[in-house]
Amino acid sequence: MSPAEAPQDQSAYERFHLIVNGPALFSAVVTGLDLGVFTLLHRSMAAFTLRTMPGLLDNPEVATVRHLLDVGGGDGTTARAFAERYPSAEVTIFDMPSVTRLVDTPDGDRVRLHPGDLFADPLPVGADAVLFSHVLEVFSGEQIRTLLSKAHAVLPAGGRLFIYGFPASDDEEEGVYSARLSLYLNVLATGAGMTYPVGDYEQWARQAGFGGVSSFTGLPYEHGLVVATKE
Ligand SMILES: C[S@@+](CC[C@H](N)C(=O)[O-])C[C@H]1O[C@@H](n2cnc3c(N)ncnc32)[C@H](O)[C@@H]1O
Repeated sequence: MSPAEAPQDQSAYERFHLIVNGPALFSAVVTGLDLGVFTLLHRSMAAFTLRTMPGLLDNPEVATVRHLLDVGGGDGTTARAFAERYPSAEVTIFDMPSVTRLVDTPDGDRVRLHPGDLFADPLPVGADAVLFSHVLEVFSGEQIRTLLSKAHAVLPAGGRLFIYGFPASDDEEEGVYSARLSLYLNVLATGAGMTYPVGDYEQWARQAGFGGVSSFTGLPYEHGLVVATKE
């Protein structure tokens, strides 16, 4: 059922359950046709993201970032946590206009918005690091290569790439979260993505022109962080 077809006399929670059982879920995440369901979806993703935050924010490479471009930054949960943890750093959230409208950014805020479509629009310049948190697994390998090239193009020399999320194990035989997410992405959501092993991300990062590629695995909630540098 598409968000537009979901009965509007039901609560956002009830409409969420109707939509979540069909392939329209991911379009509901991105386009936000139903504001109540949309807000609920982003809040529920954010609740889980918050639990996984230490694996990202405690990383020594992340600690030295001055301006983070949080691509597919959603409702700003990661950006806000990063800005609070690192009080001299700035963050720009890039996401669909339907999503960035959920983020409150008062004047003078170190968290700023750059609405746009990842594939149709250029990424903004000015950041010294680009983060994809729980974003790349949504897409096919070919789309990921395109996105990593776009990230490489807007970074200065020495700028860093961070890919954070649920990597599959190298033999793709371990990990309850990653197995479940692969099923969800392929069957219910985009029909394209899956949880890839870190080795795939490392190879795609090198193909996009990055060097110094390394990975941190075994983080809480089966998370992994791939770090690479534009040379
Ligand atoms: C699974 S959420 C991850 C949100 C956040 N980064 C986190 O870690 O919780 C994926 C995000 O990618 C965004 N996204 C997907 N396709 C996009 C596109 N074509 N252009 C811009 N953003 C997109 C979605 O709107 C959503 O906010």
